[in-house]
Amino acid sequence: MRRPIIAGNWKMNMTSAQGVRLVEELKPLVADADCDVAVCVPFTDIPAVSAALKGSNIRLGAQNVHFAENGAYTGEISAQMLKEFGVEYVIVGHSERRRMFDDTDEVVNMRMHAALAAGMTPIVCLGETLEQREGGETEGCLSYQVEHSLKGLDDVSKIVIAYEPIWAIGTGRTATAQQANDTIAYIRKKCAEVFCPKCAEKVRIQYGGSMNAGNCKELMAMPEIDGGLIGGASLKAADFAAIVRYNK
Ligand code: PGA
Repeated sequence: MRRPIIAGNWKMNMTSAQGVRLVEELKPLVADADCDVAVCVPFTDIPAVSAALKGSNIRLGAQNVHFAENGAYTGEISAQMLKEFGVEYVIVGHSERRRMFDDTDEVVNMRMHAALAAGMTPIVCLGETLEQREGGETEGCLSYQVEHSLKGLDDVSKIVIAYEPIWAIGTGRTATAQQANDTIAYIRKKCAEVFCPKCAEKVRIQYGGSMNAGNCKELMAMPEIDGGLIGGASLKAADFAAIVRYNK
């Protein structure tokens, strides 16, 4: 059985003070969660949110990591810098980064390996555009991303995969539970081919894209969906808690 993981992706929202207020509100609401819970926060929020989360069941995540250990990379943040503050998860390859900041599959792959080498769990985002979905290229796109973004993994179950159809992110347009389930089943099948059937059975694959308190039950009831990566709905404690407590 795969343990579900619900992670918030705050994106570029919440100052450090606002972030601390949010997690203080969130902690008691999700203390009884049956799944893994994480918040992926802006870099500058990490020290204060890390301190605020001590002793709770909420794990800390970042939203990106550079692939080099250190060096002349102005403006970048290394895996060790994150590790020092107790960061356990790091999102890599989010579609916003692929689209706006030129994160190619090759770069995503290097970031993923840097996170793993530092002992963190990368949450690697995959997903097709609307054009690809409508053009019948969803499987081709995901197959390419599995082969290239995840290249060189000895065991795919060391990472978390977030399947995020780009057309569903921040749009209020969610994939149907069946669509999400079938696409995730395809990703798992592809992982079994590229890696191994056993680790493909074990890898947790989240759904992301306008998941909210209203639709989380239906999505989480699907056998292939092992959690959610939540953007907009993770910015309010009550909304995010309702998703984390989808089974209550
Ligand atoms: P959304 O974002 O929940 O606001 O659609 C999800 C994501 O981008 O991870």
